[in-house]
Amino acid sequence: MTSTGRNAPASAPASAPTRASGGAPVLELDHVTLELGGRTILRDTGFVVNQGEFIGVLGPNGAGKTTLMRAVLGLVPASQGVIRVLGQPVERGNASIGYMPQTRSALAGRRVRGRDFVAMAADGHRWGLPHADAKTRADVERVLDLVGGRKLAERPLSELSGGERQRLLLAQCLLGKPKLLLLDEPLISLDPHHQKSVVELVRNVQRELGIAVLFSAHELNPLLNSLDRVLYLGSGVAALGTVDEVITRPVLSRLYGSPIDVMRVNGRIFVMSGDVEVEKHDHEHEHDEGGGHSHSHSHGHSHGHSHQHDSRDGHTHDV
Ligand SMILES: Nc1ncnc2c1ncn2[C@@H]1O[C@H](COP(=O)(O)OP(=O)(O)O)[C@@H](O)[C@H]1O
Ligand SMILES: [Mg+2]
Repeated sequence: MTSTGRNAPASAPASAPTRASGGAPVLELDHVTLELGGRTILRDTGFVVNQGEFIGVLGPNGAGKTTLMRAVLGLVPASQGVIRVLGQPVERGNASIGYMPQTRSALAGRRVRGRDFVAMAADGHRWGLPHADAKTRADVERVLDLVGGRKLAERPLSELSGGERQRLLLAQCLLGKPKLLLLDEPLISLDPHHQKSVVELVRNVQRELGIAVLFSAHELNPLLNSLDRVLYLGSGVAALGTVDEVITRPVLSRLYGSPIDVMRVNGRIFVMSGDVEVEKHDHEHEHDEGGGHSHSHSHGHSHGHSHQHDSRDGHTHDV
């Protein structure tokens, strides 16, 4: 496991990046501290993600998954340390990174045709295909092929299922041939069947292109068969390693700041705090903002408050 050092005990955080085996480094954090609004989200953290790795990014709500991705994009400056992408310090508008943000606002209501929607993300062609040059059009067809989305792309977004829209969002991320994909909670609001197909699609594309993927999720199990390593965030600390290295009682208890048990049942893994399954518990009130559930925010107050308080009290990850 990287963050704790491969030969160090699990309780000793390390902050210099440690080389893991595999391809060349795509993402390196070197003694990185991230702060937002006076709060420390990540403290003196180091790790390396290599080319061709599928990394599952996990951790309780508010642990910093989105903030980390935004920092890699150069949108949140590191208050200490250096973040490098392909050996270069981060910068905004890095063409070697493809990003799917967590908030996918109001896509479900869009009448725009799938192919035009994908083309809109192509650099400098915000107005879609009719005005795109031949190179952009070729890139759009390339990414649609990669996600098996040519047929979907004939239909308007409003007629697609959540899983089908995810396919096109993934296609958008692949425009311009990025080396690193940052996918922020692509599984939110999808049913288990569609979750499985999205994970498998990302895994296939990632392997075919040999690129690195950071795929955040609030549950480990849908990713279990596809990921190479897990990056688990909590209490300002990051643990990067294999499932067997990271999803353990000592590592997770440290990240959650309270005693955690790990149960394995029929090839699935459950992360428990007492008799509560923390991954589920932390997120069960969370809704997709782009899946047509316009009622989600009003409902948040009616059934969100008790879970929210419980989970905050249970794991003191706000440092
Ligand atoms: N713009 C902001 N200013 C201050 N705090 C923020 C801002 N955005 C997010 N946060 C806080 O930073 C923490 C990390 O948030 P986030 O990265 O969204 O976590 P995650 O994606 O793991 O749920 C949370 O406590 C959140 O409330
Ligand atoms: Mg997030």
